[in-house]
Amino acid sequence: MEPIFLGIESSCDDTAAAVVRGDGTILASVVAGQTALHADFGGVVPEIAARAHAEKLDLCVEQALEQAGLGLADLNGIAVTAGPGLIGGVLAGVMLAKGLAAGSGLPLVGVNHLAGHALTPRLTDAVAYPYLMLLVSGGHCQFLWVEGPQCFTRLGGTIDDAPGEAFDKVAKLLGLPQPGGPSVEVAARSGDPRRFGFPRPLLDRPGCDMSFSGLKTAVLRQRDQLVAEQGGLHEQDRSDICAGFQAAVADVLAEKTRRALEQTGAPLLAVAGGVAANQELRAALLRVAETAGARFVAPPLRLCTDNGAMIAWAGIEAFRAGQRDGMDLAARPRWPL
Ligand code: KG4
Ligand code: ZN
Repeated sequence: MEPIFLGIESSCDDTAAAVVRGDGTILASVVAGQTALHADFGGVVPEIAARAHAEKLDLCVEQALEQAGLGLADLNGIAVTAGPGLIGGVLAGVMLAKGLAAGSGLPLVGVNHLAGHALTPRLTDAVAYPYLMLLVSGGHCQFLWVEGPQCFTRLGGTIDDAPGEAFDKVAKLLGLPQPGGPSVEVAARSGDPRRFGFPRPLLDRPGCDMSFSGLKTAVLRQRDQLVAEQGGLHEQDRSDICAGFQAAVADVLAEKTRRALEQTGAPLLAVAGGVAANQELRAALLRVAETAGARFVAPPLRLCTDNGAMIAWAGIEAFRAGQRDGMDLAARPRWPL
């Protein structure tokens, strides 16, 4: 019989719960975002996030069970994000999961949030081990060589900002709406990527590490120079800056991915994280994968961004590998894979 797990996620600014079966069927998935709560602050405010998670988690779990048409007694386990992330939110999720496990007698499985993202291609596309995963979001940017549910090797990643963070900051610098990724992508469509020569950081260094904060500074300088020369920015300037910035990010990600594929000889490249929604980046990664003879898998966006289904699935995989946690399960703000 396939196990059925409840998955709980509250490590950043999405409160989420889902019910998933071991054959990869998502029986229910509920995500309550907090974008509006943080809109005035230019970023996620940890204290506000934690309070909102504490308020909404019970309801999300209730809704997920209702959607699935199941009660706790029909489940085989409870999986919860135990880190890494904003500690107030992680604690709220872990406390709820412990309470539910203690009350129901169900097994409890603590999941690493990054493992949740990294195992998603197995949930959506039944991908076999091993494979290469590029995780690119607002908070993360790393290459993972995935060989098993608890066997990840980090091949490299950003040494400063994550690409999503850079997209958001560039949008802010240009007066475009948040979240910045989609706004920059739309503006870039009518822009000339060659007008401004933005840098391609760390391409001259071997390995798979990346850097995006210098790129953001280059955008700031270019904006200030245009403002000084013309007294402001025209719409075309904004588009050209966005196109140039996006092309630089695409070049860096593509070249580093090429190296990671070469180093591992991976048969498959998978992407996850909000930035993986970007069409130009996807196209660049697809080209690199094809050239290397690797298959390319990009899960649907709602499963690329934070959600409870990936946590339930990672919980099922860990459960099958024998993992069981007790009431001493710790909430960890930092937890490298
Ligand atoms: O995975 P995600 O929803 O949340 C975490 O960071 O965990 O990723 C959100 C990030 C934001 O920085 C957002 O600007 C970026 O993903 N993003 C994009 C696009 N859509 C969302 N970046 C580039 N192009 C997009 N189309
Ligand atoms: Zn995430």
